[in-house]
Amino acid sequence: MNTHIDRLKRLLIKLRIYRPIGWIYRRIWLRERREPVHLSTLLNLLLRRFGFMTKKYPPFRGYFEHLDYSQGVLSISGWMFVPGLVLDEFHIELNRVHIGTIKPQERKDVEKRLPFRGARLSGFHVEARLSESEPTMSNWVDVDIFGLVKAKEAARLSTMYRPDYRDSWAEPPARLMQRTIASEKTSFYWLLGLQSFSEYYKSIERHYDVKKAKRLLDWGCGCGRMARFFLKHLRYLEVHGCDIDREQIEWCASNLPKGQFAVIAPFPPTRYADDMFDLVISWSVFTHLQREHQLDWLREMRRIIAPGGLLLASVSGESLMKFASPEAQREMLKNGISDRRLDRALDGIAPAGYYRGTLQRKSYTCREFSQYFRIVDYLEQGATSSQDLVVMRKE
Ligand SMILES: C[S@@+](CC[C@H](N)C(=O)[O-])C[C@H]1O[C@@H](n2cnc3c(N)ncnc32)[C@H](O)[C@@H]1O
Repeated sequence: MNTHIDRLKRLLIKLRIYRPIGWIYRRIWLRERREPVHLSTLLNLLLRRFGFMTKKYPPFRGYFEHLDYSQGVLSISGWMFVPGLVLDEFHIELNRVHIGTIKPQERKDVEKRLPFRGARLSGFHVEARLSESEPTMSNWVDVDIFGLVKAKEAARLSTMYRPDYRDSWAEPPARLMQRTIASEKTSFYWLLGLQSFSEYYKSIERHYDVKKAKRLLDWGCGCGRMARFFLKHLRYLEVHGCDIDREQIEWCASNLPKGQFAVIAPFPPTRYADDMFDLVISWSVFTHLQREHQLDWLREMRRIIAPGGLLLASVSGESLMKFASPEAQREMLKNGISDRRLDRALDGIAPAGYYRGTLQRKSYTCREFSQYFRIVDYLEQGATSSQDLVVMRKE
């Protein structure tokens, strides 16, 4: 990572502008802000901001399990591994500043669930002091965990965090969480929600003037895992959610105030007006649809999104191939998409045979989805580390 900074530094020195930049930085930045920021941190931030540090990682799996703040200390734990590799260490950053390096801890439970080389030594736990001036309550802190092999980055788990990230509304019953995130743990619902919100929000910010957005739809919102973050933290937005699962929508409508929730049919059209939404977000809906249904829904999304608006949707991409059956892998390689596997999680709710476990290659997704939208970004493993995030604009 630091090689990028070193290279940039060398270039600036060669151009004889490193010292003048340092002088301007000290004059402007340090005078304006109380807390000094190291120049290399600033360069690091700039490089990341303009996309020079977007690194491609091998397929990895990992989740945050705890992010708890108490008396100035943020305690972070979870697990992460790259199948086939054994991580040497975890490198922890808060707001892009390196705060520590730790050795992986043994996690036999992870290895039992995901029996791959590398899974056993996948645990991390770190306690980080947030200094007085750190924006803890009102702003967000960027938390990054890098998994390293021989001092090289092999995986990265990131989220935004602030101690008051949760709202005070009710938590969904276990069976509703189980149907959407395959877990009954409320801590998982919250942390996965926080991570998804961070990922989608950052992409929106990168490609849209977010303050100008008026209406957002969470398509396939389930029990509001992501919608509730937009409701709490972007209060000026009119937040809608829809799903084919009536029980999830009834729960959202009764428990998430100010959201507007609607049950929709498994096949378009919806009742939403043309050009109604500036932003549509969707986590793990295309991942359950057959190819022709994906295209029907893309057409519908194009109808209800305003010109210039964004559709941010996750798909199960190539990083999940390693975890798929040999038939699915073969089908994916042959056709670009594998959509035959039935998913039983929505039995009795979706029409028989409708809900699938769909995997698709990046080339397939870009080719097919760009018939309806311009693809402005494709973030491999950009949606909760397991799915790819496709950012699309209606032209
Ligand atoms: C894996 S869950 C994800 C739920 C939610 N997006 C989240 O982040 O927790 C997939 C959701 O998509 C919904 N769904 C499936 N097909 C849909 C469709 N055609 N339109 C809207 N929702 C759909 C399911 O009912 C389910 O709630």
